Amino acid sequence: MTLATAPFADPSLRRSLTLFRAFLRERTDPEHCYALLARDSADQLEKYGPLAGQVVVDVGGGSGHFTEEFRRRGAHAYLFEPDPDELSARGHPPHQAVLADGYMLPLADGVADVCFSSNVLEHVADPQTFLSEMVRVTRPGGLIYVSFTNWLSPWGGHEMAPWHYLGARRARERYHRRTGTAAKHTLGENLFAIHIGPTLRQVRRRDDVTVLSARSRYWPFLTGVVTRVPWLREVITWNLLLILRRCS
Ligand SMILES: C[S@@+](CC[C@H](N)C(=O)[O-])C[C@H]1O[C@@H](n2cnc3c(N)ncnc32)[C@H](O)[C@@H]1O
Repeated sequence: MTLATAPFADPSLRRSLTLFRAFLRERTDPEHCYALLARDSADQLEKYGPLAGQVVVDVGGGSGHFTEEFRRRGAHAYLFEPDPDELSARGHPPHQAVLADGYMLPLADGVADVCFSSNVLEHVADPQTFLSEMVRVTRPGGLIYVSFTNWLSPWGGHEMAPWHYLGARRARERYHRRTGTAAKHTLGENLFAIHIGPTLRQVRRRDDVTVLSARSRYWPFLTGVVTRVPWLREVITWNLLLILRRCS
């Protein structure tokens, strides 16, 4: 696998198309897809300063693509993941990974320069408590990167999308009929209907973080504008990216 070394302009049509093409091949070439996404996320973080030398905590880091990219850039990156199967999805658990739940990270207050979580928030029942734990382990002035696919996104139903628009139960039944296997996700068990409007309001009400950026993670243009239009944002944002700064 080779990845171009120059960062893509973000936002740009070229970047979005490249990420989308990789996403379409996620099943057949996950290494390429996640390596590209990890590089893109690290580029987004480095807009706020270099990662080299920073302590980065990757919560719900799965099989470790993001942690690997942070380390490649010189960060001291640590992965926390509660599911042993996710950790071993590439045949071996990532180096220095910790089996731990994001609600209760085995870390002291304020140890991280950056607390990172990609596509985990929609998999937890209580996103604000999960976020509070990310804030707790981040030092004052440090960054919190959190992104999630909201329920009304075209990809909100994950492998059952877009049939989740007709209801979660129907979408699950349809998936089973079509594939002969049970869907990986069940709404209310390991996938939750999280929405953009309420999440933005809750995050803006917090007094322990300031919102540096609230944008669509993948859109090619007007990435911040799309998150400001009530109702429409629930469908078109696709995936909300929040970059927060921990208050002193
Ligand atoms: C869709 S995967 C995302 C993996 C990786 N972060 C990425 O973006 O490719 C969701 C991950 O969230 C993890 N997860 C679910 N509940 C969690 C929790 N309470 N604390 C931490 N991670 C959790 C899952 O085990 C899974 O690895």
